Amino acid sequence: MSFDTIIRGGTVATASDTFACDVGISGGKITALGADLGTAKEVVNASGLLVLPGGIDSHVHIAQPSGPGIVMADDFASATRSAAFGGNTMVLPFAMQQKGESLREVVKQYHAKADGQCYIDVSFHLIIADASDTVLGQELPALVNDGYTSFKVFMTYEGLALSDMEMLKVMTVARETGALVMVHAENYDAIRFLTDRLEQAGKTATKYHGTSRPIPVEREATHRAISLAELIDVPIMIVHVSNREAMDEIARGRARGLKVYGETCPQYLMLTESDMDGLNMEGAKYVCSPPPRDKASQVACWEGLQQGIFSLFSSDHCPFRYDDPQGKLTPKGKTSFRWVPNGIPGVETRLPILFSEGVSKGRITLNEFVALTSTNHAKTYGLYPKKGTIAVGADADIAIWDPKRKETISQSLMHGNTDYTPYEGIAVTGWPVSTMVRGKFVVRDGKLTGKLGDGDYISRDKSELAKPVNPEARTS
Ligand code: URP
Ligand code: ZN
Ligand code: ZN
Repeated sequence: MSFDTIIRGGTVATASDTFACDVGISGGKITALGADLGTAKEVVNASGLLVLPGGIDSHVHIAQPSGPGIVMADDFASATRSAAFGGNTMVLPFAMQQKGESLREVVKQYHAKADGQCYIDVSFHLIIADASDTVLGQELPALVNDGYTSFKVFMTYEGLALSDMEMLKVMTVARETGALVMVHAENYDAIRFLTDRLEQAGKTATKYHGTSRPIPVEREATHRAISLAELIDVPIMIVHVSNREAMDEIARGRARGLKVYGETCPQYLMLTESDMDGLNMEGAKYVCSPPPRDKASQVACWEGLQQGIFSLFSSDHCPFRYDDPQGKLTPKGKTSFRWVPNGIPGVETRLPILFSEGVSKGRITLNEFVALTSTNHAKTYGLYPKKGTIAVGADADIAIWDPKRKETISQSLMHGNTDYTPYEGIAVTGWPVSTMVRGKFVVRDGKLTGKLGDGDYISRDKSELAKPVNPEARTS
């Protein structure tokens, strides 16, 4: 038997096992694992290197409209290029509906933005901002059947926040169609109340972004989202969890027998609210929601990763340029933290940070790293076992890592369109050196070898994890 490619001499790790073996690849798929596989058109020497499933970042924002005068830094080309250099083979951005828009039209618009513009594979979650009868009764069920099998709902943000009634209606559609609901859990009214009060007191500096969204705001919304999901018996994913109190709500929900899943992100391990306190708007570089908390919350989030409260580690890549009036330095943002665009870049640094801080420093195992960054994303969002593992029959989506390589994260190493990284100066051990998507190197030895269009749009199955606790029970 001859292969297109053999990756020879590396150490393969999956979510469950680590083993020395060669990987045979043909037609974009993994077709053999073993020793002495024979011949290939190309043999890649991976001795001393790790051969891992490519990262899947299931929470990224790309080319989303972001309000008047604000432009997201990355389009699909730059975001997927940056992701590839960060060891990712797939990202799941959002197709975001705005009030009054047809969901089907929104999906078409995002396909137009993405088609032929990606270096790695992509698949869209939906964002439901307008829970009208037509959207919920017709468009959403049809889109779920067409492979858009997950959607995000917001409990905050002007124009996006859903009422409890709307959340219940959306969750009912998820229950009936087998889709998975992702929840942004922050209490909108509480944030508005606190923001007004801070502004009235003249507290408009960037650092007050954190003060306007304290932990109880997130904890309460997390509890409420879980309670609403409990009423419908529908699994939910609480995204970008930042602190122990919200984690405790997830744990309590699980103790009641509910299917509540959790996601955290690099910003909650590496940043604190004091980062938002920089002079001359420097703090705007770190403004995201929920905001970074304190050191104790960082410790809590590590525990959540170690103990399984979090099954996903995603970037929540939401890139705005810093030194740009259409980005973090929007003129309105200088008048109040309220107007600073929320979100930070991170798709390229997610994996090196978790590898270094987690695996190299001994907080998590290599197999847990693979689960948290790839396999669990595939399982959660209906991509497994095509994606997210190294097994015969899976897509040959592979990241080759040098586990000993030392780098210092710096904007000069990044490949996206932002002009800063929030993780500047962090020293890491372990670096992705090559990224292969469906058998083709997109990044090879640190150089871009792929081209636009190498990434495909991937339609997804319904997730096994989206099945209710009692599938037989009636919903109406
Ligand atoms: O601040 C953030 N996280 N911006 C991205 C949008 C979201 O809520 O995920
Ligand atoms: Zn969110
Ligand atoms: Zn997000």
